[in-house]
Amino acid sequence: MEVIVRASADAVADYVHDRIVEQLRGVPSSVLGLPTGGTPVPVYARLVESYRTGVISFKQATTFNLDEYIGLGSEHPASYAAYMRHHLFDHVDCPARRRHIPDGLASDVDAEAAAYDRAIANAGGMGLLLLGLGENAHIGFNEPGSDFASRTRPVDLAASTMAANARYFTDGTRPPTRALSMGIGTILEARSIIVMATGPRKAEAVRRMVREAPTNEVPGSALQLSRDVTVVLDHAASSKLERHLRPPCQQQQAPQ
Ligand code: GLP
Repeated sequence: MEVIVRASADAVADYVHDRIVEQLRGVPSSVLGLPTGGTPVPVYARLVESYRTGVISFKQATTFNLDEYIGLGSEHPASYAAYMRHHLFDHVDCPARRRHIPDGLASDVDAEAAAYDRAIANAGGMGLLLLGLGENAHIGFNEPGSDFASRTRPVDLAASTMAANARYFTDGTRPPTRALSMGIGTILEARSIIVMATGPRKAEAVRRMVREAPTNEVPGSALQLSRDVTVVLDHAASSKLERHLRPPCQQQQAPQ
């Protein structure tokens, strides 16, 4: 796990943008895994700008989003499908047939989940996966307790997750209690992973993801098992790491 700390949320977005540009310019047919939430919004704004100025194209790219609420159709304003159109897809040239988001209205959610993992495999697997981090250290919608070998599947959302995401349901819709999420096992198969976290509310989740021994109770800690993970943070999100820069094994040594 490489941990990079930048001065501000804008600088974090600059770093992540530059990594995605590098990926797309190196391999235009890249398979990208994409997150939603507030944290990646400035990354998408930068990618749209880079598309407009001819720096990148998504024409040959394939995308797989991490998750979608069960019960929300793609036209619902709080769906992740609507989020992706608003922040990225309406503004770039990624063909609709190569943009994938789980169908929150699927009549058979288990079949939808299995088909999603098959589609990722058929596309050759994800070359670069971008992740945000929940305040309880969830990744995608893999809540505490999720199996590290889990595949894409229907999941129950934690109460704290529903509370954190209630702000997106401004039309009076009750936030869904379930979602379809890429599994942790699916996530770990991505060849390269970037996790971004900004702001003081993420500091404890970041500390647990980076410093605790991998445990199901901290879904983000599974990323320690991946060969290529970069964690990029602003100062606020890294604030609980800075006093503990040595590995945990050294911290535990008794003074000589
Ligand atoms: C949601 C998404 C996650 C995202 C998390 C953090 O729960 N399912 O993929 O990482 O929110 O969101 P934010 O960036 O708004 O803090």
